[in-house]
Amino acid sequence: MQIIKLNNGVEMPQLGFGVYQIPLEKTAEAVYQAIKAGYRLIDTASVYGNEKETGEGIRRAIHEGLVTREDLFVTSKLFILQAPEVKAAKTIENSLRIMGLDYLDLYLIHQPYGDIYGAWRAMVAAQKSKSLRAIGISNFKAPKMIEFVGLNDVKPQINQIEVNPWNQRSEDQKWHEKYGVQVEAWAPFAEGRHDLFTNSVLTKIGKQYGKTVGQVVLRWLMQRGIVALAKSVHPERMAENIDIFDFELSKEDIEKIAALDMKESAFFDHDAPQQVEWFMNRMLDTEK
Ligand SMILES: NC(=O)c1ccc[n+]([C@@H]2O[C@H](COP(=O)([O-])OP(=O)(O)OC[C@H]3O[C@@H](n4cnc5c(N)ncnc54)[C@H](OP(=O)(O)O)[C@@H]3O)[C@@H](O)[C@H]2O)c1
Repeated sequence: MQIIKLNNGVEMPQLGFGVYQIPLEKTAEAVYQAIKAGYRLIDTASVYGNEKETGEGIRRAIHEGLVTREDLFVTSKLFILQAPEVKAAKTIENSLRIMGLDYLDLYLIHQPYGDIYGAWRAMVAAQKSKSLRAIGISNFKAPKMIEFVGLNDVKPQINQIEVNPWNQRSEDQKWHEKYGVQVEAWAPFAEGRHDLFTNSVLTKIGKQYGKTVGQVVLRWLMQRGIVALAKSVHPERMAENIDIFDFELSKEDIEKIAALDMKESAFFDHDAPQQVEWFMNRMLDTEK
């Protein structure tokens, strides 16, 4: 597994496993199977509602001796409602309690809305007290990331954003490199949108190396120096997605992938009014 060093010296695996949209009753087993398959980076969020089950899968793997806690890099995130400072501190404590862990390796502000500065102060305090090893943001566009770095003493270690062949974020990546903030890709497969898994260009590239489309995409992210999170509930796909460290995409293949960029989200624009409305409604739902 390739390792990435963050701007505070903490090291993390470059490839990870995400649990978004895994049915609750399957989450603990999926996390356990992912660790068994070799994943060491596990990504959840308070708003996914499955921190408890994620913690169960992790604790089972530790209990069975597959890994130690120190081998793992566990991430969660705080949603908009918990942003005010006191609530944010409580949310961090809740995440730890619900997951049954003493510390988290990474904690992120999930969306660039709400009192992100209050949340950040709570996260910096939790980092100082060693409850969180690394802290960061998610879904911040480059201008917002730059403002956030400029107005805080402690800069984020990571920004978790959508990156996939349809939305490659090359310019954004350059800005993050300039500010020392590591890019982490969510939805590397765009959840299969625009027929990603049967795309002819990606399929053809994969055939040259005896690799699948999923493997080509993840390898492409590794070669770009981006941390990537892949999700699957199928153990055979978990194994497939992590089997990407024995080949290297050529410059020509990388150029062919670059030509696929549509430069827009395969999902939604985080700044679109209807999307912000959805976040606000979700926030009120979660607060009930
Ligand atoms: N910060 C954020 O706002 C944010 C947003 C979205 C996601 N995330 C994080 O990023 C992680 C990954 O993103 P994602 O889950 O949305 O999407 P994704 O990883 O791009 O795609 C997951 C989909 O691809 C399928 N798949 C996985 N491997 C495959 C393979 N080798 N061949 C064919 N199909 C395959 C999965 O199906 P099966 O499960 O049926 O195999 C699932 O439907 C999430 O789990 C979450 O941790 C964060």
